Amino acid sequence: MAVVLLGVTGCVAAYKACEVLRGLQGLGLDVRVVMTAHAEQFVGPVTFEALSRHPVYVNPFERNGGAEMPHVHWATDADLLLVAPATANTLGKFAHGIADDALSTLYLATQAPVIVAPAMNVAMWQHPAVKANIEVLRARGVSVVEPGTGYLACGAIGEGRLAEVSEIVAAAAARLGAKSDLAGLMVLVTAGPTREPIDPMRFISNRSSGRMGYRLAEAARDRGAQVVLVSGPTALDAPPGIERVCVTTAEEMYREVEARAGAAQVVIMAAAVSDYRPAEASPQKLKKSAGPRRLDLVENPDILKRLGEGKGSRVLVGFAAETQDLFAQAQRKLVEKHLDLIVANDVSQPGVGFEGETNAAVLIAADGHAVEIPLCSKRVLAERIWDRVAVLLGRTTQESRA
Ligand SMILES: Cc1cc2nc3c(=O)[nH]c(=O)nc-3n(C[C@H](O)[C@H](O)[C@H](O)COP(=O)(O)O)c2cc1C
Repeated sequence: MAVVLLGVTGCVAAYKACEVLRGLQGLGLDVRVVMTAHAEQFVGPVTFEALSRHPVYVNPFERNGGAEMPHVHWATDADLLLVAPATANTLGKFAHGIADDALSTLYLATQAPVIVAPAMNVAMWQHPAVKANIEVLRARGVSVVEPGTGYLACGAIGEGRLAEVSEIVAAAAARLGAKSDLAGLMVLVTAGPTREPIDPMRFISNRSSGRMGYRLAEAARDRGAQVVLVSGPTALDAPPGIERVCVTTAEEMYREVEARAGAAQVVIMAAAVSDYRPAEASPQKLKKSAGPRRLDLVENPDILKRLGEGKGSRVLVGFAAETQDLFAQAQRKLVEKHLDLIVANDVSQPGVGFEGETNAAVLIAADGHAVEIPLCSKRVLAERIWDRVAVLLGRTTQESRA
């Protein structure tokens, strides 16, 4: 039975850790709870002891008559460390390697994958210090279950509320169950927008943040694949363990994808590639004094279509971001571009598509099989897309892990 260490930290949402524990046990996992001293101010360890049927680990200096050092053997036994809820304080300690209590010591001592589900008030969540700590942890391979938006314990409405328990449990299941079903595969993922220069200072682009492609690449890496990420300009750090190739224009992306797709068994085109580019980019800055201008556009190479034409046995996945007739548009694209799977999302819906950390989509396969994925984090959607790809590759018959 896989062992999950559930870290609970000091905030009002600590009571939800009881539901997370129950959800994890529902998956047949052995859950052991590690609390911070501040978490004890919110929920008593007795509750977790009764639910988990294990002693709760709070104080590394408490003597229990033996020479046991839970921060060593619990750390070694663990298949996953999940901290839900995670306070700003504990995230900061993890990011900076401070080990002054049981949980932060375990974080340093364990080799197991780590997931954190932050919960805090909106101002704390948006503070640059917290943002920077989150980026440090992500870059280290820690998965972050993004907080949701809603009523916060402080009375405000905003981002910072602990993610839904089902989402946290799904993230844990995905990270645990997904250890190797893509092992040995070479996959290529594209991400982000492209920029088509007008002059040295201006360009045509779109609102893609690159997050969907990055989460796909990270999920594939965690499931054992060798991953190449061809990325347009984004603010995201290169994920560890992934070969990132940075490009700017659609033509550059096309060249890099062409050069690398041959070695890949799966290609997922999550990038939002500009359909058109200015016919001529001015070598000098265009002056306002030259008066109103027309911009002549020419078509960019259709990377997905070209990959579809020479596809062979490769699994090819595309995205359709639409604002109307979602299903019909997606099916047309699926057929026209010889795709095996299309991820269709209605980007006019709140929380869907570009920029944020959430998404919702319909996954439509070439055989007509369609699955609707309701609003969830991009990481969870990425896991569901790989679940489908694993089915298409005949690596599993499992449709859903959550
Ligand atoms: C009523 C109350 C609610 C709190 N809620 C949060 C919260 O939601 N998120 C957070 O990061 N800190 C919250 N704090 C502050 C933390 O408890 C504080 O930073 C503490 O040092 C966290 O310690 P720990 O990370 O060791 O559990 C809250 C404090 C109080 C008194």
